Amino acid sequence: MKDLEFKRHRRLRRTDSMRALVKETHLRKEDLIYPIFVLEGEGIKNPVASMPGVHQVSLDNLSEEMNELEDLGVRSVIVFGVPSEKDEVGTQAYQQEGIVQRSIRHIKEAHPSLTVVADTCLCQYTDHGHCGVVRNGEIINDESLELITKTAVSQAEAGADVIAPSNMMDGFVAAIRQGLDDAGYSDIPIMSYAVKYASAFYGPFRDAAHSSPQFGDRRAYQMDPANRREAIREAQSDVEEGADFLIVKPALSYLDVMREVKDRFHLPLVAYNVSGEYSMIKAAAANGWVNEQEIVMEKLTSMKRAGADLIITYFAKDAARYIDQQ
Ligand code: PBG
Repeated sequence: MKDLEFKRHRRLRRTDSMRALVKETHLRKEDLIYPIFVLEGEGIKNPVASMPGVHQVSLDNLSEEMNELEDLGVRSVIVFGVPSEKDEVGTQAYQQEGIVQRSIRHIKEAHPSLTVVADTCLCQYTDHGHCGVVRNGEIINDESLELITKTAVSQAEAGADVIAPSNMMDGFVAAIRQGLDDAGYSDIPIMSYAVKYASAFYGPFRDAAHSSPQFGDRRAYQMDPANRREAIREAQSDVEEGADFLIVKPALSYLDVMREVKDRFHLPLVAYNVSGEYSMIKAAAANGWVNEQEIVMEKLTSMKRAGADLIITYFAKDAARYIDQQ
């Protein structure tokens, strides 16, 4: 053993304080964006069966949820509406009295310190459950842009701080930017779901938001999980069209894509830690098969290590508590 030459990496792992000194990646409460589901009606707080700990709430119960977030130090939310009426063209998505618009107004009035991100899509509002205008079984790109732009402008009018379009039509960033600018909202940023895969990990969300497609699937507009270079093309066009943030979604199976997007573009990068990724951990933890706290912190940290600046996650409240315990 005498002449053996090797490196002693363990020198930097000897004690807690030494490990803290050399830690490369930090998860902060400011990194977290919490998704909320708001539905019409009163006094409602429905547990989402496939997402333990997540509820759909009515407007009057929203403040309870917002107070909890504020107490925990989570400062951003992304709002999803669950309307009671749907039609072919998603009319409820772009009404000033729509559930999302009313929720945004409520949060901005009662909780002005929170940043409100509006998810901008049509699938919860259309009777066919697709994210755009449908004709002869196809999702028509350019006509969908008009509706998505109307939706974005109405959300900005209601007071949204950030517009987050998720419908994956080509040109949605260009269309929304122009729509917002023309309506006087040139200060409102666009957080684009730039790289969004057609993923089985969205299953539980569709229970929560009642947004499953009623025929077919979303593969003619969301991306093929097999493709990496296509992600660069998607992100590139959104950057050119004027996006202010880029989202990669889902997160865990796409950390390689996240790193590539991070290295090539210089906008804040957002990981969407989606519903299926949440539910799988909740289910395993409920069975006592994994340590929930450790696994949640490990996976959120891995998203940041892969390049995410921010994380949209249903674990935001849990993570804020864990951060307090550190
Ligand atoms: C709407 C939308 C979806 C999600 C966010 N926005 C569903 C979908 O595209 O089918 C999924 C979020 C999640 O699974 O947590 N287009």
